[in-house]
Parts: sequence; structure tokens; C-alpha cells
Amino acid sequence: MAPKAAVKKQTTKEKNKEFIPRIVAFACNWCSYAGADNAGVNRMQHNPNFRIIRTMCSGRVTPGFVIKALKLGADGVLVSGCHFGDCHYIFGNYKAVEQFEKTKALVRTLGLDEKRVRLEWVSAAEGPRWAEIIDDFVKQITELGPSPLRQNERH
Ligand code: FES
Repeated sequence: MAPKAAVKKQTTKEKNKEFIPRIVAFACNWCSYAGADNAGVNRMQHNPNFRIIRTMCSGRVTPGFVIKALKLGADGVLVSGCHFGDCHYIFGNYKAVEQFEKTKALVRTLGLDEKRVRLEWVSAAEGPRWAEIIDDFVKQITELGPSPLRQNERH
């Protein structure tokens, strides 16, 4: 057995290098989900470390959805919908903005960095934009490290 002094402690930076973030992306059916599909169909390279959940509208994504995703082990949550003026339910994305402000407040209350959640608009034709957002968000969450909510997780 190696003496305790010989066991090198990992720095936070080293731990974050090995860290593969778990991202949950809520995408509205009419624009962002189609935008993600567009990125896939056109074989755009982007980070695969996200799981997409399709909702009918970004306005349907309540703070409870995002908090539950974080509590279940997501390191970051993206909410994405149609650009203003394109929402199929007219004002759904305005509702999404209101809800997202509440979500950020809850995230801060939980002691998390609000950079762990993000709201973005992506149209069905914006596959490249979807790919850029995913890459940027994965990078941002990788820099933040694992969510403190999943610290006690064993696997
Ligand atoms: Fe896309 Fe409402 S349908 S944001």
C-alpha cells in the first residue's frame, strides 16, 4: 500500500479535464428541435454530450422542468425555442423569457451558478447555430465542472 503522501491529490483543474458534462436541452417542436435535426441531417460536427427533450413550445418549459433535470444529475440545462415573432403559439417564447427569469432565481437559490442554465432561440433553418450553441454551452459547463447537486453520486 502506498504511503498517504505518495498519493497525489487531483486539482480541480485536473478533475475538470476528465469531466464529461451532462447537458439536457429542451427544444421546442417547431423551431429548435427542427434546428437540431437540421444540424444532424447536414452532418454538422458538434459535441454529442447532450440529451434533447422535445416540448411543443419553449413556453411550456417551467422552472420545475429545469430544476428537476438539475436534481436528476444534469450539469447544465439549455432551453431553446423559436425567435420572437416565429412562435407557433404566438407569445409562447415571451412566456419562456418570464419563466426563465424565475428559473435563474431558483438556480441561484440552490447555490448554483446561473451559467448552468441558458435560453437561446434557434430556427428550423439554423442547424449551424444549434451546433455552435451546443459546443459553446458544453465548453462553458466543462469549465464550471460537475454540478454540486451531483457531488455525492457514485457513478
Ligand atoms: Fe417554438 Fe413556441 S413554438 S417557442
